[in-house]
Amino acid sequence: MNKIAKSKAADRINKLREIIKDYRYNYHVLDKSTMSEAAADSLKHELSQLEEAYPKLITPDSPTQTVGGQVLLKFDKVQHSSRMLSLNDVFNKEEVEAWVKRIEKLTPDRNLEFFVDIKMDGLACALIYQDGKLIQGITRGDGFVGEDVTANIKTVKNIPLFLRSEKGYEKFLRGRTEIRGEIIMYKKDFENLNKEREREGKPVYANPRNLAAGTVRQLDTSLTAARPLLFRAYDMIRDESTDLSTNLYTYEAIRRLGIAANNQATVFKDVAGVMKFIKQWEEKRHELPFNTDGLVVKINDRALSSSLGVVGKAPRGAVAYKYPAEESVSIVKEIVISIGRTGAATPVAVLNPVVLAGTLVKHASLHNSDEIARKDIRIGDTVVVFKAGDIIPQVDRVLEELRPKKTVSFDMESHLKWQYPDLKFNRPEGEAVYRLTGMSGKLLLKKSLEHFASRGALDIEGLGEKNVAALVDAGLVDDLADIYLLKPKEVEKLDRFAKLSASNLIDGVANSKHPTLPRFIYGLGIRHVGAQTAIDLVAHFKSIDKIADADLEELMVVEGVGDIVAESIFGWFTDQDNRKLLEKFERVGVKPVFKSLSNGPLQAKKFVITGTLGNMSRDEAGEAIRSLGGTFSSSVGKATDYLVVGENPGDSKRVEANKFRTKELNETEFLKLIDKSV
Ligand code: IVH
Repeated sequence: MNKIAKSKAADRINKLREIIKDYRYNYHVLDKSTMSEAAADSLKHELSQLEEAYPKLITPDSPTQTVGGQVLLKFDKVQHSSRMLSLNDVFNKEEVEAWVKRIEKLTPDRNLEFFVDIKMDGLACALIYQDGKLIQGITRGDGFVGEDVTANIKTVKNIPLFLRSEKGYEKFLRGRTEIRGEIIMYKKDFENLNKEREREGKPVYANPRNLAAGTVRQLDTSLTAARPLLFRAYDMIRDESTDLSTNLYTYEAIRRLGIAANNQATVFKDVAGVMKFIKQWEEKRHELPFNTDGLVVKINDRALSSSLGVVGKAPRGAVAYKYPAEESVSIVKEIVISIGRTGAATPVAVLNPVVLAGTLVKHASLHNSDEIARKDIRIGDTVVVFKAGDIIPQVDRVLEELRPKKTVSFDMESHLKWQYPDLKFNRPEGEAVYRLTGMSGKLLLKKSLEHFASRGALDIEGLGEKNVAALVDAGLVDDLADIYLLKPKEVEKLDRFAKLSASNLIDGVANSKHPTLPRFIYGLGIRHVGAQTAIDLVAHFKSIDKIADADLEELMVVEGVGDIVAESIFGWFTDQDNRKLLEKFERVGVKPVFKSLSNGPLQAKKFVITGTLGNMSRDEAGEAIRSLGGTFSSSVGKATDYLVVGENPGDSKRVEANKFRTKELNETEFLKLIDKSV
């Protein structure tokens, strides 16, 4: 084992334990949330993985070994009749199948049935009825000992003080009947309460679960009575366990006795059915009146289930299926700045990849430098990330306890200077955003469009500087893709155009819908991406989607792409405006074509030109070389194969060529080489 790795792991483990314990204390004892359950889950997951890798570092008080929850002193402590257990989490079909397989191994030849219910996000409580009369309400506490909250739960509107008597269910009115379930608050009631608080100028509550828990665990019963709490049962315990054959029957009995239980709960005969139910509720769960983050899957047969026993704090016979978290924790590896269509510089966090709501997330928007300063986000920080709506993930906050030593605050200005040394930015008065200096949105668009239409890029006939200016100034074009939506009638109206010239322009634009992929990428005007870099990117990644999804390390594998270029590319493709632009190109029918150059006749040959060629411009020569698989650069190096010498050549390149014994070609030889090759 690597010693340094181990000491680093130990350090991280200690920090993770502290933060999880703090979270648990706040959650279970103070009814406060220091972070979402999903974020805490992912820290717990990281801790478990580290402990798995370094089992010697496991301690008995590690949060992986203990259940959260402590008993508050202000209520009487009560011992539970049987331990209130928790459930192990599963996150996907494979884990459900593995759970089922383990059970099948323990109980071969049994036809398993699965009872699946919605998992409610509330406060677990046990209600004790003696001969049908409610005598006690106990919170879960640490599972063994809870708090006596009888006075409070008696005020919960749907908890009956006496069980209903119904034919066939009389036995439950005799002796001790314990009903376990969750105290919850409906989302709507919670929102209304918060609206009222806002009107009164009071701080709002964090979420329904915390408010429900806080309400049950405070001493003023009139306050509990005033709050819209509800109870929903998920279990019943009788001294005689044979009173309850299956979980389906248990739910039925609970309802007959006058207590609410979810009527969505259903029995399935196989994993396929369970998975279908899980899928069905993934979206629909948001329409439920209460919050849920998953489902509970239990073996329907209760005797069979209890024969399976308990491992640690959870029964073998049940699991909690958790839907993909919409919040998680990751580490900021880098902060890069993208420049959007309007010249605005937007910082983006490059993250350790993390799964959020089922998709792999590699970056998060940081909005602007004020936002970074407010949240004090630094490179190396562990951050809580979440998905706002369905769009780009964002950083909620930094877990400062996990901050490495020697980090520095992010300095937007110096980073801009480093990443874009040839550009100038300023921050207009009263704005949070840095913008390219002297580049209004329109000017920037004109420059971008001129570049996009230029010979080395999409080579669009009739779209030079003046026509670009006319189109942009007239408001006919708001982005690069708009040129493909131009209508002859609107172009004709402009001073510079007549019927024929307008139709020529539109034809020229339409003819550019299938550029080669490198020309298209070059045309996008990504800072630091010249024609050669575009070719190299395409040769390596083969598609624009792969380039768009590449992270910094993957980009830097490409020849000629260093950190600055990689950050610029990464930044460009993470900018939402730019992503939308690419989608729009697709919609308007621009489909770049990918041609493999890997077997061109000048494959891997490196050319440099000095002096002026009589027959073609430098750009055209470069284009000819690239189209045959060769590369074209501006200075002679060890790897240069040919120096093409035109009229009035400079000395320095020839000196270098001589030093490296690079072959010199005159223009005729060069033409022959490309002619021969064509
Ligand atoms: S069955 C051994 N059903 O989730 C515990 N629990 O993470 C069997 N919960 O401690 C519990 N909704 O407090 C069950 N429909 C449901 C539930 C549910 C919420 C809670 C319960 C349990 C925790 C497990």
